[in-house]
Amino acid sequence: MVEEQANDFLEARPWLSGICDSQSTEELKSKYDSWANTYDADIKEDWSFMPANIAQTLSKLLPKKDATILDAGAGTGLVGEALYQKGYTNLIAADLSEKMLAIAKERQVYKALHQCNLEDSQIFSNSVTFDAIIAAGVFAYAHAGVEVLNNLFGLLKEEGIFLLTIREDYRREMQTALEQLPWTLVSEEGFPIYEEAKLMYLMAFKKKE
Ligand SMILES: C[S@@+](CC[C@H](N)C(=O)[O-])C[C@H]1O[C@@H](n2cnc3c(N)ncnc32)[C@H](O)[C@@H]1O
Repeated sequence: MVEEQANDFLEARPWLSGICDSQSTEELKSKYDSWANTYDADIKEDWSFMPANIAQTLSKLLPKKDATILDAGAGTGLVGEALYQKGYTNLIAADLSEKMLAIAKERQVYKALHQCNLEDSQIFSNSVTFDAIIAAGVFAYAHAGVEVLNNLFGLLKEEGIFLLTIREDYRREMQTALEQLPWTLVSEEGFPIYEEAKLMYLMAFKKKE
C-alpha cells in the first residue's frame, strides 16, 4: 500500500525523481534547461507557498529594503519576484541553467543575472559580498552540497542572513556542515511537502561578526 502511494506520488511528479537522479552537474543543467518552460506550472501545487514564506521570513530578519541579496539557484525567479513584491530592490540571481535564468530575467526583478556553477570557488570577484543569500530548492540530492554551502557562506557579509530550504532526509546528511559554520540559527519552520510524512525546512542563519 505504501509502495503504491509512493508510485502514485512519483507518477504525478515525474520531474522530481528525474532531477534528483542526475549523475553530474552537466546532466542537472541540461534537465533544468529542458524543464524551464513548464517549471512554474509543474511545481505550483507543491511549492507556490514557499517564495512568499521566504520573503516574509526575510522581512522580519532584514527589514532594510535596499539590502544586497543573492538568490542562489534562482531558477525561474519565483523567489526574486516574492522578494520584489515585499519591497526588496537589490536582487542578484545566480543559476546553472541559462533557460531557467531567461525566464527569471523576464520578471524584471533582478539587477543582474549570472549563469554559473555554485560549486566554483570564484563565483564572483573577490570583493563581492551580500547582506543576505537565499537558496530555495537548491540543497537537495544531486543539486548542492557542502561545497556550495561553504562557497555561499564566503559570500555572506558579517551578520548577514542565509536562508535555505532543505528536506528532512537531506538535512540529516548536511546537519554537521550546517552546524560547523560560525553562524546562529535564527529561524526554523517545517512544512509538509510532497508526502505528508516528510518535512521541508525553511532555515535562517545569521553569520557571526
Ligand atoms: C528546484 S530549482 C529551485 C529554483 C528556485 N529557487 C525556486 O524556488 O523555484 C533548483 C535550481 O537550482 C539550480 N542549481 C542546482 N545546482 C546548482 C549549482 N551547482 N549551481 C547553480 N545552480 C544550481 C538549478 O539550475 C535550478 O534552477
